[in-house]
Amino acid sequence: MKLILTVITALLLSDLSFSSPARAADDLVVADFEGADYGTWKSTGDAFGPGPARGTLPGQMHVEGFHGKGLVNSFFKGDDTTGTLTSPEFRIERKYIAFLIGGGKSDKLALQLIVDGKIVRSATGPNERHGGSEALAPDSWDVNEFAGRTAKIRIVDDAKGSWGHINVDHIKQSDVKPKSFVEDAERQFLVTSQYLHIPIKNGAPKRVVTLLIDGQRVVRNDIELADAEPDWWALMDVSLWRDKQLTLRVDKLHEDSAALRSIEQSNEIKDAESLYRESLRGQFHFSPKRGWNNDPNGCVFYNGEYHLFFQHNPYGWSWGNMHWGHAVSKDLVHWEELGDKLLPDEMGPMFSGSAVVDWKNTSGFGKNGNPPLILFYTAAGNPTVQAIAYSTDGRTFTKYGNNPVVKEISGGNRDPKVIWHEPTQQWVMTLYVEWKKRHTIHFFTSTNLRDWKLASISNGDTPGGGFLFECPDFFELPVDGDLTRKKWALLAANSNYALGIFDGQKFIPDVTRLPGHRGKGFYAAQSFSDVPDGRRVLIGWWQTETKGMSFNQSMTIPLELRLTQTDDGPRMTFNPVKELETLRTKTHHFGALTLKPGDMNPLDSIRTELVEVRGEFDPGDAREIVFNIRDIMVEYDTRKQELSVAGHRAPASLRDGKLRITIYCDRTGAEVFASDGLCYIPMPYNTKLENKRLFLESRGGTAKINSLELHELSSAWKVK
Ligand code: FRU
Repeated sequence: MKLILTVITALLLSDLSFSSPARAADDLVVADFEGADYGTWKSTGDAFGPGPARGTLPGQMHVEGFHGKGLVNSFFKGDDTTGTLTSPEFRIERKYIAFLIGGGKSDKLALQLIVDGKIVRSATGPNERHGGSEALAPDSWDVNEFAGRTAKIRIVDDAKGSWGHINVDHIKQSDVKPKSFVEDAERQFLVTSQYLHIPIKNGAPKRVVTLLIDGQRVVRNDIELADAEPDWWALMDVSLWRDKQLTLRVDKLHEDSAALRSIEQSNEIKDAESLYRESLRGQFHFSPKRGWNNDPNGCVFYNGEYHLFFQHNPYGWSWGNMHWGHAVSKDLVHWEELGDKLLPDEMGPMFSGSAVVDWKNTSGFGKNGNPPLILFYTAAGNPTVQAIAYSTDGRTFTKYGNNPVVKEISGGNRDPKVIWHEPTQQWVMTLYVEWKKRHTIHFFTSTNLRDWKLASISNGDTPGGGFLFECPDFFELPVDGDLTRKKWALLAANSNYALGIFDGQKFIPDVTRLPGHRGKGFYAAQSFSDVPDGRRVLIGWWQTETKGMSFNQSMTIPLELRLTQTDDGPRMTFNPVKELETLRTKTHHFGALTLKPGDMNPLDSIRTELVEVRGEFDPGDAREIVFNIRDIMVEYDTRKQELSVAGHRAPASLRDGKLRITIYCDRTGAEVFASDGLCYIPMPYNTKLENKRLFLESRGGTAKINSLELHELSSAWKVK
């Protein structure tokens, strides 16, 4: 009996010891690519360079998601290099081979497992189109069936051109089953509401999300889908497909990802109660409800409304998936966002462009006497071409069936801006083209907006030319309102400009490279076409970064442009449009006052968040006149005649011995105007909600305030 008990106890004990989980053998690293060279790996061709890359290579988008400092990156000397990289032989001793992989998607780009001279497993990168991401993501193979066999790993880059490279890192053998992926995971919806709410995790690997209607591919986007708790919910407007079968297909999802499951359909916006009230939401600067914006596009006045389209990534906090978002306003100040109007298609993502009203229906797209609104955009695929879309109601837009209207001239040509040229009764398009390694503007003409002829090239071969990079704008302005003295202005994306003459074919500048704005974060501005009172109103992309928000970036306030004569010749002035006055809620007037160092702060009693300040000063013997607007320092140096905003300095001459200054301050920064608009300083700055204090002082002497007005402003957003 005792013996039996002993045996049972022994059995139980041994059983117990067996039932504790068997410890998986440690992972075996096949290669981590941390060395200066490839060691025992053999490389052929030139794609893989002399050794592992230390991250991003010259000319490449930011590479991320690799382990340690080094990785295999076949972008060595660009996309056109090819080659192979092969490991020495090793024994398969674990059930799985796991690795990180990124780069292009192609059968010419592969990570291969070779057993007995045969390719038994193969993987490639995720990107097949313009855009995408250089992030590496985990992947793995089940190799149990090859246990004990000898194998090699080979990395192949036989691809040239866009996405002609592959990135690989951290190849290891492991017994722990890596999370597996579901390829082409799908979810079907019968569309009953306006929105699908898409969960976004900033920085997650981008997944290719394809939207199909009744089985037909309509649009694809690269989306940082949240597998678990999202950072925010993107709005996918599906109202166009009401009552239809919609499928969302994701190229690759973790088996336990909640991304597709968590998508809800509704007419309401999630977190609607905080919409437009977010702590970093500009209150009188346009920004999209959700997602990223860059350039203003298609700025036009049509049927009683200003239309503002914009480069929009509805599904990311950063640039990508370029759509044309759309907003309208009756007064340039209060905007209503209407949803995305141009979606990426098989010709590529929708890059920047412009709009005109075709009053004489030269295009033939008008209906029942209604002049059509025509949009010009760049379809930034391969090739990159110029295309048009039209509308007769300002709400629905149809892409022209015979697009493109201008074929690719050279890769990356983009940003068509179209105007009507009254003297020659034709349309003129300015287009940014890199031509003979220079930044040029190509001028095209047309009588019907569909057929375009090259008329001339500006800055192509002129020495010192080539400053005109991206997003041209082109218009004529009178000097000091004198209609007999007009000049044509050609603007680049950074707002540098040239002034000259234009005969309908060729622009001849008398002066170039004049500076536009003098601040920071102002780019790709566009003026509105067809403004009824003939004003030239410009709006810029304002690079206001809003970390932690479900949107990012914004637009500047609308600016009225004029030309004024200076000692150096005519120059452009930037001033806030008068419509902004509608934001004023309470005004504080200060009469003529002297301002001495040590005086009490005249603005002491005021507490406000959104503010407009307008003042005129005689500098007297003051060395500096200084405003502190909610921590944004606005300092005028009377001797240097220089204005500094948040530490950023620019020349700002006194005008008739006076300093005239206007300051607009929103949650996202300040826009400061001096020298009657000759000096415009936009400065992104994230203000603190709780700080509502304003100060004004003179330093080093006494200044005279001739007039000073301070307007407390209301938000321009209409919230429920
Ligand atoms: C300028 C720009 C344009 C292009 C667009 C793409 O910011 O690079 O040239 O059309 O952005 O979003």
